Amino acid sequence: MQKVNSENWPYPRWLAHRGAGELAPENTLAAFRIGASHGYRMFECDVKLSSDGIPFLLHDNTLNRTTNGTGIAGEHTWNDLSQLDAGSWQSRGFAGEAIPTLANIAQFCLKNRHFLNIEIKPTIGQETPTGQVVAEHAARLWQDAGVPPLLSSFRPEALASAQAAAPHLPRSLLLDTLWPGWLETALKLECAAIICNHTLWDSALVKQVQGARLRCMSYTVNDAPAAHRLLGLETDSIITDRIDLFSPQEAS
Ligand code: G3P
Ligand code: MG
Repeated sequence: MQKVNSENWPYPRWLAHRGAGELAPENTLAAFRIGASHGYRMFECDVKLSSDGIPFLLHDNTLNRTTNGTGIAGEHTWNDLSQLDAGSWQSRGFAGEAIPTLANIAQFCLKNRHFLNIEIKPTIGQETPTGQVVAEHAARLWQDAGVPPLLSSFRPEALASAQAAAPHLPRSLLLDTLWPGWLETALKLECAAIICNHTLWDSALVKQVQGARLRCMSYTVNDAPAAHRLLGLETDSIITDRIDLFSPQEAS
């Protein structure tokens, strides 16, 4: 498996957010398929743990918005979660779409030679075990792959436990604000990249991050002027919902 660092960076410029943005139910296999059909080769997804320790894809802390279940997702067993409909909320055509496990998505990405950014999105209070278990599963699932998945999180505790469990998997710190100590934290976690809310990037921040030998990535960029600004700043990667607007081949 390739050792990923800022000098040895294998990932493409464009990532489809939550699989395919808004054209399919987020964080489902259907979303990944639509993203791939639009030419995307790298995907971001959100991963948390079931109550019995299975990593699965879901953004929110609760099931309410994106499934026909209710309550805190991480308090349900995988057997319960696997029965839910994660598609009907988006449109009737996706009725019956299941919540995928990380293993389901790994299989899809590995078979198709797609790259993956796994955002560790812990149930509140489960930061340390989630980072550990997601990293352990990712290390096992990608053990024969040429390029590892890129782990990311807003939660340094989750990245720290991922680092302890699978130090060879590349990490990136997600930032919605430039909180005190963010760069020191990223360096301590031996991150390969910073993924910022795209509005935070300016030339001084790019210089600071590049000077620390980290790659510069952005979320979630959904309009052409914003993308143009980020490309002009020479940032590295853009996570978007608008797979219908940005063609990865033409726009890179
Ligand atoms: O990983 C980038 C982006 O997904 C972070 O925000 O809330 O969409 O997971 P969110
Ligand atoms: Mg995310």
